[in-house]
Amino acid sequence: MQGCHTEPERDIVYRLRSIEKRYGGRTVLRIQALDIYKGELFTLVGPSGAGKSTLLRLLHFLEHPDQGTITFHSVVSNGHSPVPLTVRRQITMVFQRPVLFRGSVYDNVAYGLRLRGQPVEPIVSEMLARLRLTELARAPAHTLSGGEVQRVALGRALVIQPSVLLLDEPTANLDPANVALIEEIITEVNREHGTTIVLVTHNVFQARRLADRVGLLLEGDLIEVAPVDTFFQAPRDPRAAAFVRGEMIY
Ligand SMILES: Nc1ncnc2c1ncn2[C@@H]1O[C@H](COP(=O)(O)OP(=O)(O)OP(=O)(O)O)[C@@H](O)[C@H]1O
Ligand SMILES: [Mg+2]
Repeated sequence: MQGCHTEPERDIVYRLRSIEKRYGGRTVLRIQALDIYKGELFTLVGPSGAGKSTLLRLLHFLEHPDQGTITFHSVVSNGHSPVPLTVRRQITMVFQRPVLFRGSVYDNVAYGLRLRGQPVEPIVSEMLARLRLTELARAPAHTLSGGEVQRVALGRALVIQPSVLLLDEPTANLDPANVALIEEIITEVNREHGTTIVLVTHNVFQARRLADRVGLLLEGDLIEVAPVDTFFQAPRDPRAAAFVRGEMIY
């Protein structure tokens, strides 16, 4: 029968329309339209200063667009009314330069659960083991190496089982073993818990390994969004092709 084979529509978590973000009169981000689907691993690539972290901050509702709207499920954010805490608590972000709280590694990872009045065990101990941080559980956070801080920050974000995880360069400055561990955990969270993930990375190889879809930002413009295979094999925009080939000068 004709007409019976249409693809079911995918659930949209974020719907961005006519977004502009400005700092001091300078526009650093312009996005006509972008939808992020439930359960996908969306990777955002682009040169330094392209607006990747700015976009993540908008998706976290830490900042608001100067123009346009971001709809999260059915909640519309246009900068005029605060996004309810219950909504924001479904979203967690691991910042590009994570800051840990005073206290131990354990306390840092347990923080979000305690804040929500939820039991911390066995979740925290399991997470520490998964991130190979068990031996550092009692260590004061300020004594950690850069790579350890990044793992603690990821653990802190994951224990609360967010529906959306925003990751800003989560493997920058890590050694290959830790990169592999973090990539494995990101993939697992996405596949097993259906967590929607937006991952910012400079590393096109990492994007290729992990992404369902890839978006390329150049000087604040989202110039290409495509499924991972299309992005790497047949991007539409010549600038995306140059970026993929590593020929882009920036
Ligand atoms: N709070 C701010 N005030 C003024 N300018 C800002 C602010 N935050 C970001 N910018 C500017 O906006 C532009 C985009 O910055 P953003 O941090 O989003 O880039 P990025 O793509 O994450 O870069 P990187 O890969 O280096 O982290 C940059 O030119 C930056 O200087
Ligand atoms: Mg950044």
